[in-house]
Amino acid sequence: MARRRRKKKISYADICLQAVVDRGETLLTAPCEFASSCGGCSWQTMAYSSQLEFKKNAIADAFARQEFLDLPIPDPVAPDHLYGYRNHMEFSFAARRWLTDEEIATGEGFDRSFALGLHAPGGFGRVLDLQTCHLQDDELNRVLTSCRAFIRGHELQPYDHRSHEGFWRFLILREAKASGDILVHIVTRDRSDEVMAAFSDHLKAQCPSVVTVTNGVTDSVADTSVGAKITCDYGPGTIVEEVGGLKFEVSSASFFQPNTETAAIIFKQVAELAGDVKNKKVLDLFCGTGTLALVMAKQGADVLGLEVVPEAVACAQRNAALNEIENVSFEVCDLMKGLPESIGEIDLVVTDPPRAGMHKKTMKQLMALSPERIVSVGCNPKTQAENLRALCSQGGYRIERMLAVDQFPQTPHVENLALLVKSESTGTED
Ligand SMILES: C[S@@+](CC[C@H](N)C(=O)[O-])C[C@H]1O[C@@H](n2cnc3c(N)ncnc32)[C@H](O)[C@@H]1O
Repeated sequence: MARRRRKKKISYADICLQAVVDRGETLLTAPCEFASSCGGCSWQTMAYSSQLEFKKNAIADAFARQEFLDLPIPDPVAPDHLYGYRNHMEFSFAARRWLTDEEIATGEGFDRSFALGLHAPGGFGRVLDLQTCHLQDDELNRVLTSCRAFIRGHELQPYDHRSHEGFWRFLILREAKASGDILVHIVTRDRSDEVMAAFSDHLKAQCPSVVTVTNGVTDSVADTSVGAKITCDYGPGTIVEEVGGLKFEVSSASFFQPNTETAAIIFKQVAELAGDVKNKKVLDLFCGTGTLALVMAKQGADVLGLEVVPEAVACAQRNAALNEIENVSFEVCDLMKGLPESIGEIDLVVTDPPRAGMHKKTMKQLMALSPERIVSVGCNPKTQAENLRALCSQGGYRIERMLAVDQFPQTPHVENLALLVKSESTGTED
């Protein structure tokens, strides 16, 4: 029987790679054998200088499309670590392993009944079987190997996305880069005290860097680890990361910037754009676990952080206590619905929305608040430029300065920051 041809969707990353080839540049040999098939980091064959150039062009293009012409576009700051930089990885289990074209071409007979790895793009349930991942460091890879060895030696089977049977669902590894402490979070369909005790004992004996093991249980048919009921089986259930002189508690479910080195760069860039905030009233929109709010509060600002996820707000409050910072508070708030009524006058707003950018309703509230300065942190230059166009055209702001950082080398992603000031206070427009 003829094998069905696999269709590959052309992505922005592919288009840039083709452009590099078209201008005669040689592609590098990727350190990872799965580079062309895995959704993790598709730019490994592109010289790093070209990656930075394409990221800068992506920012320039997004802002030019919003008629920000003659705007100085920043060179993204390059981190020291171009591989092994992630402090957080989520691997999936599958009862049907997805083979790459290269694996098929070898003609070898692979055991297709087990996979633990990342997803190949283009379809549901395409889980590759990865022994190592170059986005995480050697120690996390050692822990991945050790988890795999325990699970492969166990009679319980990986979860099958079609039949919804099987036990093992996701493996989440988190590392505090400052201390090297590692949290292992394993998501299963059912709870088994016996299996989790054996899994924890195995890791305690094999991997001293693993200081805590947690288990999330979910029988949801959705392919997500979010919402699982969490039990701590070993250690405190959290690790503590340190960035820019601040401590942050990281649990299995909490959000934390996935690249510790570039998080420190973002903290510095936000502080630089915000300028002197001593005794200023600052609002941190989409504050997550309170990172940027704490950066501002540490410099003497009086800060309110707003965030829709109650667990993130609780974590932000614990982070404030951990750092003994009192001039900051956090509230649960759905920014689609409105700002809290008693906000009063605000000098500076820091806004760090998800990739989709700020919704029109949130933009309206921000403009009504009319702070003198806004620091915009954007992980998607396209939606960021659209938001800033509205703030400039309708809210009377102009872009004073931009800074960027390459948060995810080997991928097309870039983080762009902008300082907006009220045009009235400077007499100029964008
Ligand atoms: C890019 S993250 C910002 C994280 C934060 N600045 C940090 O460094 O930890 C975006 C945040 O927006 C939150 N969010 C998404 N929709 C929201 C809404 N409608 N109202 C408030 N927060 C929202 C998400 O939960 C997430 O924490």
